[in-house]
Amino acid sequence: MRIPGPFVTFEGGEGSGKSTQLRLLAARLSADGHTVVTTREPGGTPGAEAVRRLLLEGDGDRWSALAELYLFLAARTDHVERLVAPARARGAFVLCDRFHDSTRVYQGLAGGLGLALVDRLQAPVLARARPDLTVLLDLAPEVGLARRARAGGGGRFERRDPDFHRRVREGFLELARREPERIRVFDATLPEAVLADEIYRTVRDRFGREP
Ligand code: TMP
Repeated sequence: MRIPGPFVTFEGGEGSGKSTQLRLLAARLSADGHTVVTTREPGGTPGAEAVRRLLLEGDGDRWSALAELYLFLAARTDHVERLVAPARARGAFVLCDRFHDSTRVYQGLAGGLGLALVDRLQAPVLARARPDLTVLLDLAPEVGLARRARAGGGGRFERRDPDFHRRVREGFLELARREPERIRVFDATLPEAVLADEIYRTVRDRFGREP
């Protein structure tokens, strides 16, 4: 049986540059001869993209905290079953823009549901796909939100108060302290190309096998 392809997730607060860095890493891994699948959460499959619209559009209080958690998990389950797990089974490198740590932080640590409940409810989907490595792009929330405002952002979560975004940053750093081997912290204020080099080196060192 084939060894499952590596599963790398990108995490961080708003405007931390995850999507750009994911694209740059995908290009380098493809140039090295790897089969690379890039995707995002919430989303990545038609069903999960439909749920994404329910989650990111509309009023801030559109959902209760618990209803919102179930929607994220429904989207994740579809995405893992139909895209992430099959791609890994084919041996592809899967790069995902946000995954379960976003739920642990946004809904669990910063959103008030707590880590224990979130971890319990997402255990079944994590049993199907668990990240091997997580790239955490750390940035002061004011800087990230200003970047997003310039880019015309404004989803339901971006509009939360500054204190929420501070808890998001702290939450991610707390998770990284608990799992330093899996979650690697990068300074998102570094120039784009320097950061891309650091991330590529980390990934290559971790999965230093031939394509
Ligand atoms: P993004 O595509 O800009 O990263 O937006 C996704 C938004 O959804 C972002 O504000 C973070 C939020 N989010 C959660 O609150 N929980 C989750 O589990 C995920 C994947 C995203």
